Amino acid sequence: MGRVRYGGAIVPLLCSVVLVGMVSGIGVNWGTQATHPLPASTVVKMLKDNGIQKVKLFDADSDILDALKKSGIQVMVGIPNDMLASLANSVQAAEKWVSKNVSSHVSSGGVDIRYVAVGNEPFLSTYNGTFVSTTLPALQNIQSALIKSGLGNQVKVTIPLNADVYQSSSDKPSDGDFRPDIHDLMLLIVKFLSDNGAPFTVNIYPFISLYKDSNFPVDYAFFNGYQTPINDNGKIYDNVFDANHDTLVWALQKNGFGNLPIIVGEIGWPTDGDRNANLQYAQRFNQGFMSRYIAGKGTPMRPGPVDAYLFSLIDEDNKSIEPGNFERHWGLFYFDGQPKYQLNIGSSSKGLVAASGVHYLEKKWCVLKPTANLNDQQVPPSVAYACARADCTSLGYGTSCGNLDTKGNISYAFNSYYQVNDQLDSACQFPGLSIVTNQDPSSGDCKFRIMIQTDTANPDRRVGSLSIVLCLFLLFYFPVI
Ligand SMILES: *[C@@H]1O[C@H](CO)[C@@H](O)[C@H](O)[C@H]1NC(C)=O
Ligand SMILES: *[C@@H]1O[C@H](CO)[C@@H](O)[C@H](O)[C@H]1NC(C)=O
Ligand SMILES: *[C@@H]1O[C@H](CO)[C@@H](O)[C@H](O)[C@H]1NC(C)=O
Repeated sequence: MGRVRYGGAIVPLLCSVVLVGMVSGIGVNWGTQATHPLPASTVVKMLKDNGIQKVKLFDADSDILDALKKSGIQVMVGIPNDMLASLANSVQAAEKWVSKNVSSHVSSGGVDIRYVAVGNEPFLSTYNGTFVSTTLPALQNIQSALIKSGLGNQVKVTIPLNADVYQSSSDKPSDGDFRPDIHDLMLLIVKFLSDNGAPFTVNIYPFISLYKDSNFPVDYAFFNGYQTPINDNGKIYDNVFDANHDTLVWALQKNGFGNLPIIVGEIGWPTDGDRNANLQYAQRFNQGFMSRYIAGKGTPMRPGPVDAYLFSLIDEDNKSIEPGNFERHWGLFYFDGQPKYQLNIGSSSKGLVAASGVHYLEKKWCVLKPTANLNDQQVPPSVAYACARADCTSLGYGTSCGNLDTKGNISYAFNSYYQVNDQLDSACQFPGLSIVTNQDPSSGDCKFRIMIQTDTANPDRRVGSLSIVLCLFLLFYFPVI
């Protein structure tokens, strides 16, 4: 879709009303790194119930694509970074990928695939250049394969890039340009996208600005309340999203691609795992973003409607926490499809609609025995063992369970391990320390969750034998005992 240029005061109003319809509502990212994922059909029903018309995936899982068949939902499929090298080195591999993961779904009864995301933030500084030489050739090979399969007009390529591919030498967007170490590569990519009618996709995270810099002004991360806006040659910036987005617009414009369409591939706010990750901030950020989105209000440099995918749909309790403990808490919904807070995403005034037909495990929890001795030497290694294999990211300063006492902390860890292992008896046998209870240990915002039933769970294999592993673990920990 072309960008609309306009001058008058009434025309923009009319244009935005017309264009809101055309941008077709907000998209969401659907990631699947969870120990207990909801069935794909349940998620697709949830998308429809919430009026969500666009979804972005991180791979091309055939169960998910089958569930999206004839749903009317537009799909961006993804190619994981670890496949870039093989797709870069072989035209044939790219053709196979497109045939299996795009053509077959499009032709065999209507999955509405619109985009292929080639890689995921491949130039992130923390990857040390691992994907720098393979990303563009993979993009080119996938594009050729799409053309060869007759889908060149219908399915566009793109590369979801982190906002760290560009920067500004000041706090002003107009000083923006691409990162020096990948500057020339970025120009080749941008030209390729432009030549092929494809969009630039960027992930923008105001939360990370706040997380990384304790001096970052909190209100500047949101869409309301910042008192000292930045004036960039007459363009006023009162939130970091606009400033970040327009730094990209300037980088594109300066290099001759000022009209390249931009998709915001990921935008959102986590709800746990950090002192700035909570329900109030997430609601404030996402509603602030959505209100502008629904109104068709863009940024000072691109005032028209924005095209964006919220990050993310559902919490993923199996994601790496290397970026931080908040990483497992980006969902608008908890892992079981329960909405976290009220959010108007433009489709219904009633707010978010929960997943239906979800089956939970029994109402029981694994906790620290009331009689257990806190000084027992098996406590620290037991907690470490449980947390390494389950999810303790809701413990710690400023988190939802940050106010638990030591006993509560230990119980939380034990229960998480027990639930992740589908409440197997052997997963609540921390030596002399644990017991199963029917009393819900949750208090206030701190929820001791019970997991949902899944087809894919294979508890026997995952739990192994807790006591044997723990014994070995203890031997390493306390070799003298
Ligand atoms: C299709 O995508 C899936 C999921 O990302 C991947 O595992 C598979 O290798 C791809 N198929 C081909 C033929 O490349
Ligand atoms: C990148 O380099 C740093 C420092 O040399 C290293 O610690 C890190 O593991 C490297 N990361 C990758 C993905 O290679
Ligand atoms: C509970 O666990 C968290 C995370 O490991 C820790 O930061 C906190 O100090 C613990 N609190 C108590 C009272 O043990």
